[in-house]
Amino acid sequence: MSDTSKSATLTIDGESYDLPILTPTCGPDVVDIRKLYSQAGVFTYDPGFTSTASCDSSITFIDGDKGELLHRGYPIEQLAEKSHYLEVCYLLLYGELPSAADLEKFEATITRHTMIHEQMHNFFRGFRRDAHPMATMVGVVGAMSAFYHDSTDIGDERQREVASHRLIAKMPTIAAMAYKYSIGQPFVYPRNDLDYAANFLHMCFAVPAEEYEVDPILARAMDRIFTLHADHEQNASTSTVRLASSSGANPFACIAAGIACLWGPAHGGANQACLEMLKEIGSPDNIPEYIARAKDKNDPFRLMGFGHRVYKNFDPRATVMKQSADEVLDLMGVENNPILATAKELEKAALADEYFAEKKLFPNVDFYSGIILEAMGFPTSMFTPIFALSRTVGWISQWKEQLADPQMKIGRPRQLYEGSGPRDYVDIENR
Ligand code: SDX
Repeated sequence: MSDTSKSATLTIDGESYDLPILTPTCGPDVVDIRKLYSQAGVFTYDPGFTSTASCDSSITFIDGDKGELLHRGYPIEQLAEKSHYLEVCYLLLYGELPSAADLEKFEATITRHTMIHEQMHNFFRGFRRDAHPMATMVGVVGAMSAFYHDSTDIGDERQREVASHRLIAKMPTIAAMAYKYSIGQPFVYPRNDLDYAANFLHMCFAVPAEEYEVDPILARAMDRIFTLHADHEQNASTSTVRLASSSGANPFACIAAGIACLWGPAHGGANQACLEMLKEIGSPDNIPEYIARAKDKNDPFRLMGFGHRVYKNFDPRATVMKQSADEVLDLMGVENNPILATAKELEKAALADEYFAEKKLFPNVDFYSGIILEAMGFPTSMFTPIFALSRTVGWISQWKEQLADPQMKIGRPRQLYEGSGPRDYVDIENR
């Protein structure tokens, strides 16, 4: 636990209350208010949790002013360049970079959990073909607890481990199956001779009628996209997973809750919304109109892929993603992609505009990811499922960390009640 030598004093109606101040490894100090209600009979008020630390964690640190993102202390830029997704999964899950032997064992374990129970194929067929793949993923992942009973006891460390491996391994298979089902093509089984990213691309784009060779440059770009989305401290979907888990819900139900939360356009759904926005803008000539709309308080329109609750500087993931976008589009021979041209002009125009500078609105992880995914051949409806499969390791790592916390208790916020005080029932004839 953090150093508590400092404290804050709160005075209410002449009464003073000392609140310990906790000092973290990195980041701002934290005022410990756990005893505030019992001592002073007051709540704190923080809708949206803009100033609230909901837990302590050792997994990911973000410095929004510096545009810094660390996973177990390692900068995301170095991990994106030198590591790969399954090694980052190991780092997030276990806290240290693996030895060669441990990495080989971990990758072999994940590889051998990529198939799903054959009976689960029927779940997909219960959906309309035009169902959004996120709807399918929420449903199928939530139903996993009906098939993997032997890894639902959260009090059993081995079962927690098996559930973690199953979820990380099976999410690409489920996402790929959701995609295949939506386009009326047969499911493609995972292959143990392909690495994690190549296997996902193969399950999405191979057809039984012919061989499909995965381009190693696309596989590397896919793996980097997975890495850039792996974890991001206490974002909305991770907080959803933690809150669901605090009630003792099984891991599959908790991850299904995280997928549901990620779907929103203000969160993981922004990559789909961003590409749809770029297509609606259509050309750099229309950018001034959309910038004006984004600044207009009477217009609900926002620039999707811009802004962030924590980053008040560049999102370091967006910077890496932008480099990948150039590589992939060059490879796909679409370097003259009009959407990318519009994106680059929009970024330039927004960053030059004082509204965005004043509100510290910079491109976030979702701004360029959609451009890469579209160039790879994915429909916009698959962008958020890809975010979800990437973030599963982050959700699972945070879930495991919370379960191992001896002070863990059910999350139960209070409220500022502004409704009616007590009043008596009025019979209908007297209303
Ligand atoms: C992700 O939390 C995470 O870590 C999330 C994530 C992760 O990895 O898990 O990083 C992934 O969700 C990235 C964000 C993707 N969402 C979008 O790109 C959607 C567009 N962005 C916004 O809706 C918004 O910026 C949020 C939701 C991301 C952040 O919103 P906040 O922190 O609640 O900020 P706010 O809504 O209070 O905005 C502050 C001001 C407001 O103006 P004022 O009321 O102060 O006058 O900035 C304005 C907003 O109107 N503003 C924007 C804007 N985002 C904020 N104006 C125009 N366009 C935008 N995109």
